[in-house]
Amino acid sequence: MTVLLPRDKNASRNIKPEKSLSGLTSADVNLNKPRDINQPSILSSDKKINDKVKKVFIKTYGCQMNVYDSERMVDVLSPIGYAAVETPENADLVILNTCHIREKAAEKVYSELGRIRQLKKKVNPEMKVAVAGCVAQAEGSEIKRRAPVVDMVLGPQTYHKLPEMIAKVHRNSGEVLETDFDTLEKFDNLPESRQVKGFSSFLTIQEGCDKFCTFCVVPYTRGAEVSRPVGQIINEARNLASQGVREITLIGQNVDAYSIMGPNSKQWGLGELISHVALIGGIDRLRFTTSHPRDMDDDLISILGKEPKLMPYLHLPIQAGSDKVLKAMNRGHTYEEYKTLIVKIRKSRPDIALSGDFIVGFPGETESDFQQTMKCVEEIGYASSFSFKYSVRPGTPGASLPQQVSEDVKSDRLKRLQDLLYSQQLAFNESLVGRTLNVLIENVGREENQLFGRSPYLQGTHFNGPADLIGQIRPVLITKAGRNSLSGELMQK
Ligand code: 5AD
Ligand code: SF4
Repeated sequence: MTVLLPRDKNASRNIKPEKSLSGLTSADVNLNKPRDINQPSILSSDKKINDKVKKVFIKTYGCQMNVYDSERMVDVLSPIGYAAVETPENADLVILNTCHIREKAAEKVYSELGRIRQLKKKVNPEMKVAVAGCVAQAEGSEIKRRAPVVDMVLGPQTYHKLPEMIAKVHRNSGEVLETDFDTLEKFDNLPESRQVKGFSSFLTIQEGCDKFCTFCVVPYTRGAEVSRPVGQIINEARNLASQGVREITLIGQNVDAYSIMGPNSKQWGLGELISHVALIGGIDRLRFTTSHPRDMDDDLISILGKEPKLMPYLHLPIQAGSDKVLKAMNRGHTYEEYKTLIVKIRKSRPDIALSGDFIVGFPGETESDFQQTMKCVEEIGYASSFSFKYSVRPGTPGASLPQQVSEDVKSDRLKRLQDLLYSQQLAFNESLVGRTLNVLIENVGREENQLFGRSPYLQGTHFNGPADLIGQIRPVLITKAGRNSLSGELMQK
């Protein structure tokens, strides 16, 4: 069983389509989110694979922080001769970059390790296996005990050490376990340049969390809130722009808690940082996620209204509508405070589309508390959302609360909540029919002559057009809307 240790408060510290080992399945990446954390993803690289190049297969579970980390692992491994591949069969190294946020996510890792053990035994006995990310941080050496196939265990703040860890494995020199919490050391040691594919990219500006919501493992697995230095972020953003990236999503567990002494010897928050990243030529769109209601300050709200490169979409989780539950969750705000914040945000940016996270069945949640969540959704109105049944995470305060809610009740509440949220999402998408939206064209679509891109509100959008438009931002007249995507017609510029 996992036991989360209280972290050292003084220590410095802080998600693409899935291919499973059994076959390929494709899943959209929702840029905005702890995407569907149960849908892992795979990285591949353009590096020509020959006999000399070593192959690394990385499977990513969980949020966009992990997607970013997996890309950076490739950057770390590239100088020592590795290239990312899309299947594990012939990989020299398999890395599972894991998520611990809900029980299901963690258990998936152990099932996958079972499949990897078979693969190693039957197909590729030389393969080395690493477990990275939040399960690695939380479970440490327990992983090797449960899954002896694993050679290396490394927490989210240690992947810059991968080359020395691999060397240690090859030398056969003892346990290879790294779970330090030194976020800034990691960033100082990552290669400056990134290898990116595509036109939209994540950029981690902040890691970790000091909020300690009572349901959540993140403060224990990612560590304390740490902000990256401004210069490092601007350099990375410039590097992305130089590789053709048009859209950057600034990410952090509490991205709006970003705070650091800037180059002008003044304290910079996220608003100031956004204004400067927006000055970089070639970057046409900016997003940021995930925000916490307690950290959305007036400066950031005002930038939301003023900065044209910022997309009109905000992920601002509330989790529950009842003040009693919000208090038990240690969210640090009431429903009224959240509502007031939304009014301010909408005043600053009237076209903003809101997205949220919701948990049903937190211990002690009654039907009447749940009705407050339904009322919240009705009153606020969400263009998109992520909703979950409360999942007991051993070691978090929520796990030992009395009045745990039964699975049946959680399922019933989730169904009712999702019916409402999904109807709002469909209504929002349908409200866009007849409007022309600028779409960042990312790829070809599934059908002949079809292109795929993202609207300002993040919906995947399909339309016909020539492939040489990939990478451009073009107006598309929306003609049809489903719950998860839009389709339309390419307009003249
Ligand atoms: N159970 C269910 N959902 C959770 N989340 C975080 N911890 C838990 C948990 N123990 C959800 C929250 C958070 C999102 C990333 O995952 O809604 O915002
Ligand atoms: Fe988890 Fe709460 Fe921190 Fe978000 S704010 S990462 S939910 S503890």
